[in-house]
Amino acid sequence: MASLNETARALVAPGKGILAADESSGTIKKRFDSIGCDSTEDRRRAYREMLFTAQGSADAISGVILFDETIRQQASDGRTLVKVLEAAGIIPGIKVDKGTTPLAMSPKELVTDGLDGLRARLVEYRELGARFAKWRAVIDIGDGIPTQYCIDVNAHALARYAALCQEEGIVPIVEPEVLMDGDHSLERCAAVTTDTLHTVFDTLVAQRVELEGMLLKPNMVIPGKKFAGGPASPSAVADATLTCFREVVPAAVPGIVFLSGGQGDQEATANLDAINKLGPHPWQISFSYGRALQAAALKAWKGSDANAEAGQRAFLHRARMNGLAREGAWTADAEKSAS
Ligand code: 13P
Repeated sequence: MASLNETARALVAPGKGILAADESSGTIKKRFDSIGCDSTEDRRRAYREMLFTAQGSADAISGVILFDETIRQQASDGRTLVKVLEAAGIIPGIKVDKGTTPLAMSPKELVTDGLDGLRARLVEYRELGARFAKWRAVIDIGDGIPTQYCIDVNAHALARYAALCQEEGIVPIVEPEVLMDGDHSLERCAAVTTDTLHTVFDTLVAQRVELEGMLLKPNMVIPGKKFAGGPASPSAVADATLTCFREVVPAAVPGIVFLSGGQGDQEATANLDAINKLGPHPWQISFSYGRALQAAALKAWKGSDANAEAGQRAFLHRARMNGLAREGAWTADAEKSAS
């Protein structure tokens, strides 16, 4: 069996990143509502099968994060979706958190559930083929928030999750997401992201997590969507993001894989590219995008098997563009070459 470090490094292999296809039942329903498709078990299965069987995706996709329902489903040829990914050379992973709930005594903030029974669930997921996992904590920026209390409890849960994963031979992806929903500036995002990551790494070390056997999945340092000053340029995002990481992310961490967090498809690609153009860095810097890899594919698929090839073309294009950006090699010409 591959070591934690070998699996972590394979997930951030050159030119490759991760597809986050682990939308919970509530989130995938929202995505399907946007294309007028009913969220039935069969349509969810068909949609994920369409993505996972796109020929050549393994050139740019190292791993896929699955939801509990998906890791148990079968493709139309009878193979499990896990086997379909494995046959393509893609590493299956699993979301193991159970979503967020209001934080006691600070109701505007959230804490992530899912630690109860996690050790046993990890054993089952490993038997089902998962080699890495994901846990997302959410930190919101607003009036008087985040509190250090919220950052502390979320960091504590992330570290408990990560230590349990490593005991079971599963690589934890540690995801403390500072949301970009507010009207805050890039500087405020930088300050909150730096504080959050400081606390997260202190707590990971305190709970004996091996930094060599994990991946960090952070937000980029970016202004809030409602910031009066508008979006920042890719070079401003790259500078602010790298300044923050150099201060707080230990070089022992093999890779940083960004979430897209509501950035536009090309925005997420352009920012990743700008960050990698400033490399080499102490860590591999890649992607673990959900929306920024899937939005175009979902629109092309429209809920119908007749559009499966169009959906796959759209997905492959975004996967390839982010594969280039992951090397700092994305160009406007490549972007135009949508196959
Ligand atoms: P987005 O890229 O859509 O933010 O999703 C990534 C993810 O896995 C969030 O937990």
